[in-house]
Amino acid sequence: MPAFKVLIVGAGPVSLVAGHCLAHAGIDFEILERQDDFDLNVGASTALWPESARILDQLGLLEEARTLRIPYHSKVCIHSDGSLISRSRMLEAVEELHGHPWMLFHRGDLVDLLRRRLPESSGRIHTGKAVQSIQTTDENATLTCADGTTHTGSMILGIDGVNSTVRRLMTPKLKSTSTGMNMKTSYVGLYGHSAFIPGGAMEEGCFYETHGPDITFQVGVAAPVDRCYFGCFKRLPQPITSTNATQKTFTEAEKDAFAASLADVHTTTTLTLRDLYSRAQWTHMAYIEEGIADSWFSDRIVLAGDAAHRMTPNAGLGLNCGIQSVVVLVNHLRRLLLQQPEPGSEALMGVFRAYEATRRKPATEMVKVSATAMRAPAWRNQVWRFVDQYVLPRIGGDMVVLSGSVFRLVLYGS
Ligand SMILES: Cc1cc2nc3c(=O)[nH]c(=O)nc-3n(C[C@H](O)[C@H](O)[C@H](O)COP(=O)(O)OP(=O)(O)OC[C@H]3O[C@@H](n4cnc5c(N)ncnc54)[C@H](O)[C@@H]3O)c2cc1C
Ligand SMILES: *[C@@H]1O[C@H](CO)[C@@H](O)[C@H](O)[C@H]1NC(C)=O
Ligand SMILES: *[C@@H]1O[C@H](CO)[C@@H](O)[C@H](O)[C@H]1NC(C)=O
Ligand SMILES: *[C@@H]1O[C@H](CO)[C@@H](O)[C@H](O)[C@H]1NC(C)=O
Repeated sequence: MPAFKVLIVGAGPVSLVAGHCLAHAGIDFEILERQDDFDLNVGASTALWPESARILDQLGLLEEARTLRIPYHSKVCIHSDGSLISRSRMLEAVEELHGHPWMLFHRGDLVDLLRRRLPESSGRIHTGKAVQSIQTTDENATLTCADGTTHTGSMILGIDGVNSTVRRLMTPKLKSTSTGMNMKTSYVGLYGHSAFIPGGAMEEGCFYETHGPDITFQVGVAAPVDRCYFGCFKRLPQPITSTNATQKTFTEAEKDAFAASLADVHTTTTLTLRDLYSRAQWTHMAYIEEGIADSWFSDRIVLAGDAAHRMTPNAGLGLNCGIQSVVVLVNHLRRLLLQQPEPGSEALMGVFRAYEATRRKPATEMVKVSATAMRAPAWRNQVWRFVDQYVLPRIGGDMVVLSGSVFRLVLYGS
């Protein structure tokens, strides 16, 4: 009888953290990734909050991660004409409050760290493997890829992103909606990275946020690596369905037109989107879905990461939430395997059920907090428009938001 093995679909950051957790727990695994190679230029920035720093610490990755992070001290909120709303030491305060810094990375650097340091990385990560179908039996699960190869393991862990194939394949077994995830899509985003602009227009260590109406931008200055990261989000005239959103790939022309429509909006007190977009090194445009998968598992198949929970990016919680989910899943799995090295489908389902029961509520909470972090600076309603401009700056602004007391008040509208 072959030993217990997890087949992970997707090699994004959550998958790689899952790999590290499994390696530490002594559980065998393989990772199947659709892309042929890893382009480290791809992706904007990714932030990790202190709870994820603690996990990196346990995995022995924190020290190197700290050398890769881009240091920040202040958050600067501005109007779309560049005038100041507020300025706070919020980002510096994270370390004072929690003992770990807020760590922003070039996404490629973080993925590269997780991949390089994964034990037996080259033998375990298989690229060019687009998973197309899944077959489960009482004893195992088999994946078939677009190149015709098949892979059999004890269970499948679908960490293949918001447009998850594993979720789609799993869903008919659950008799739910067509994508298995009832997502709402109210915002569209253009994000990427550009060359750093010297001369004081971009203040080193500052994270800028442009507020409303109907838009919010974020720009992280990354002078040490000669870049800045940007994300520009705009509310759609009306929400669209999840199926329409996940099927959509924006063309270069659509991207240029979107950037042109927002070209005069300020990204820092003196620069506009035009200044950044004309110096862009990588960009991507996508609908920003929000939601939670109807069910996170069926027989021998379980979901994690964006495939299970997807949120707006402004609060920088998506990856953090995924990391916490895989830690919980691997802990439950390890406990089972110590008692039953070759568990049957029912015992595995027990693990998946306990995992979902633990994680569904906090993930739902994170989707809501993230929703507010998009809607408040975009002035989704008159209350936020007023609070954001006149109340928050007087009571301590982002420092109060950081302490968690403001998010509780809010209004989760479209
Ligand atoms: C602009 C932006 C900024 C963000 N900033 C932050 C942040 O600061 N902090 C934070 O915590 N989160 C952030 N997020 C969210 C974060 O990026 C996601 O939550 C995270 O990437 C999810 O990781 P994942 O591994 O679940 O999925 P993904 O990163 O989407 O990876 C999925 C992988 O699966 C592969 N795949 C897909 N289908 C198949 C298939 N059929 N077969 C094989 N492989 C397949 C894909 O090629 C991909 O490599 C941000 C998101 C955006 C859009
Ligand atoms: C998978 O399970 C089936 C039926 O339970 C069995 O016939 C088959 O040999 C197993 N495959 C592997 C590779 O273990
Ligand atoms: C989804 O797309 C279809 C086809 O383009 C369109 O007819 C439909 O109105 C769209 N639905 C929503 C809610 O956007
Ligand atoms: C989502 O997946 C479907 C089915 O695999 C594919 O047709 C579509 O292009 C994907 N969408 C995006 C934005 O990648």
